Amino acid sequence: MTWIKQLSLKYKYFLGSLFYLSYAPKALRYSRWKEKVERQYAAPPPSEGLDRPGKLLRCEATENGANLYFEQAELEVSFLTPDLVRMTWRPGILPVPYGIAQQDWKSVSLQVEETPDGWTMTSRSNEVPVLKLTVSDDGRITFSDAFGNVVREELPPEKSGDGWTHRSHLRPTEAVYGLGERSVPLNLRLAREVTEKQKVTETPKTFRMWNYDAAGKYDAGADPMYICIPLYLGLHDQGSYLVFYENSFDARFTFSDVATATFEGGALRYYVTVGTPAQVLERYTQLTGRPPMPPRWALGYHQSHWGYETEEAVRVTYQGFEAHDLPLSVIHLDIDVQVGFRAFTIDPDRFPNLRGFIEELLQHGVQFVTILNPGVKLSRKSNLFLEGQVLDAFCKSPDGQLVVAPVWPGWCVFPDFTHPIVRRWWSRQYEYLLDVGVAGFWHDMNEPAAFIIWGDRSLPPRATQHYMEGRGGNHLEAHNVYGLLQAQAAYESLCQTRPHQCPFIVSRAGWAGLQRYAWTWTGDIECTWTALRQTISTVAGLGLSGIPYSGPDIGGFQGNPSAELYLRWFQMCNFVTFCRTHSANNVEDRTPWIYGEPTLSIIRQFLRLRYRLIPYFYTLSWEATQKGYPPVRPVFWADFTDANLWNMDDAFLLGDRLLICPILEEGGRSRQVTLPKGQWYHFWDDSRLEGQVTVEAPLEQIPIFVKAGTILPMEEG
Ligand code: NOJ
Repeated sequence: MTWIKQLSLKYKYFLGSLFYLSYAPKALRYSRWKEKVERQYAAPPPSEGLDRPGKLLRCEATENGANLYFEQAELEVSFLTPDLVRMTWRPGILPVPYGIAQQDWKSVSLQVEETPDGWTMTSRSNEVPVLKLTVSDDGRITFSDAFGNVVREELPPEKSGDGWTHRSHLRPTEAVYGLGERSVPLNLRLAREVTEKQKVTETPKTFRMWNYDAAGKYDAGADPMYICIPLYLGLHDQGSYLVFYENSFDARFTFSDVATATFEGGALRYYVTVGTPAQVLERYTQLTGRPPMPPRWALGYHQSHWGYETEEAVRVTYQGFEAHDLPLSVIHLDIDVQVGFRAFTIDPDRFPNLRGFIEELLQHGVQFVTILNPGVKLSRKSNLFLEGQVLDAFCKSPDGQLVVAPVWPGWCVFPDFTHPIVRRWWSRQYEYLLDVGVAGFWHDMNEPAAFIIWGDRSLPPRATQHYMEGRGGNHLEAHNVYGLLQAQAAYESLCQTRPHQCPFIVSRAGWAGLQRYAWTWTGDIECTWTALRQTISTVAGLGLSGIPYSGPDIGGFQGNPSAELYLRWFQMCNFVTFCRTHSANNVEDRTPWIYGEPTLSIIRQFLRLRYRLIPYFYTLSWEATQKGYPPVRPVFWADFTDANLWNMDDAFLLGDRLLICPILEEGGRSRQVTLPKGQWYHFWDDSRLEGQVTVEAPLEQIPIFVKAGTILPMEEG
């Protein structure tokens, strides 16, 4: 790097840091205020009384299950399909079904009987038993699959204060996956607590369910992250199951010899489904929904940078791709195209002819996607604010005051997306941008995130009120569904305004069901080799949590990756559904050509391969719409009976047919691969391999294998 380049990067970094610092006074005021109201609305001390459910008093069979009355609690068991059952322990507020896509289910053939072990319920399909559950006298529950294997054993739940704690045994070798977006090994049981001095302890990690802005930069081990989903898939030698807690309250999960889930409020409502990993994911996504087909262009390459401020900057970027003969499908515009960073604005001074410019981009095969954040600037000069005020659209505290917090535009208020009228109003805002040709939207900061100096980077949980479709509630419950409901508003707008086009929305935050509306990216990840490796588990874990489309900022958000790190990151993401380079405002604009040769030519070869593989990606998208399977799958998907594959998170499958083995170390020029059972063809030299292999990985290649017997749909090169 020349000294001029280094100097200009330092200058950029300095300016970027000043930019962040300029928010400090507001963040300080907000932290103080938030601390005060949190104290004012603190949780009441837990009431005496209910702990365990007590003894079972009676059981009444119902059409699709049973109601069981315990001394201190009630349990409603409802079979939705022969292999999917909903369990609801009361007391507690029932959820507003934001996560649920299917409400009506056919009746299930069921036998309910009293046995020496307790009340058993056995579902049948074509006379064959599918799922049997037994509720014992004290509230223990076991679930057995179609083969009669016990796959899950729950302990009696416990209630303390407003929330429930639920425990279930884990087998010594059982693997656990899911919980949404996580920055830990794929098998969550391997995650350990790390001390402040970065010492790894023996203590199993506690995962928080609280969508969180892992601001600026995060690396492996950060928790929580932007999308928390209270579901996990358990896999052991007797079978597998998935449990989804339909409870959006703040919660904590740990996996030791028992899986423990502790919620801050709400009824204990959860769903259990048994079957192979593919079957349980199919059932879960029937319940919470599957994604629509994406536009074909979304499967191409996306370029982004926080720093494309003007039409000219965007033009220079797409022309750079053309000049270097690199395919490009989308450019994402960050907050610097906006007027004062305000939602639904694009600065007409810097984009004087947006319609014409979007047409120009389209002529070059490039789509225009723009960002927006949910925070609305508190200003009488903002129409959005005034309209929202007339509608009473913004979140308030119990004393009727607006909840105000600092985000990029300055002091902001927050639409209450748990109100259908507010969602409709928000939906309408996208229309004029759609009319001008904007192809899709990128939702950021929608956990929602606010700037703080200390405390949690969001709204005060008990002091922020929400409509919750009329039944009322606070942010402790609404926080995790906030981004989901914003995405719903956008999705409805896109579908109504352009009914014949596939919608494209990217959302940083979300909850169960986000897949119905949006893709996601893995936020502000560090620019390190460990972060590159982490991406595999995070993306595959999201897929196992029902979110099939995701990807990282290629090269990491903060920092300037070396040519080798960027190249290896690119080579991996070439096979991930959301393939986008993005970077922060205080780093270099990261385009493939800044690295010179041989990086540029290698990236060109990989991108061409990706575009040739679009028919395969498209086929996988269809599978996601039909069955909920994520295109990026963990290696064990190929053979879930092989326990050697359960912890494998340094490689992934793209569909069932391609095994992608990225290079995750600086200087790595070969790597070991455990091939799932059967024969696999080495993509680069056509050799046929099996079992454990060591393969070469010069800079020009990462190992890729094609399952024997595959016809891979590819376009002409
Ligand atoms: C935070 C997002 O995670 C990042 O991708 C974006 O560039 C910045 N906000 C600025 O909008």
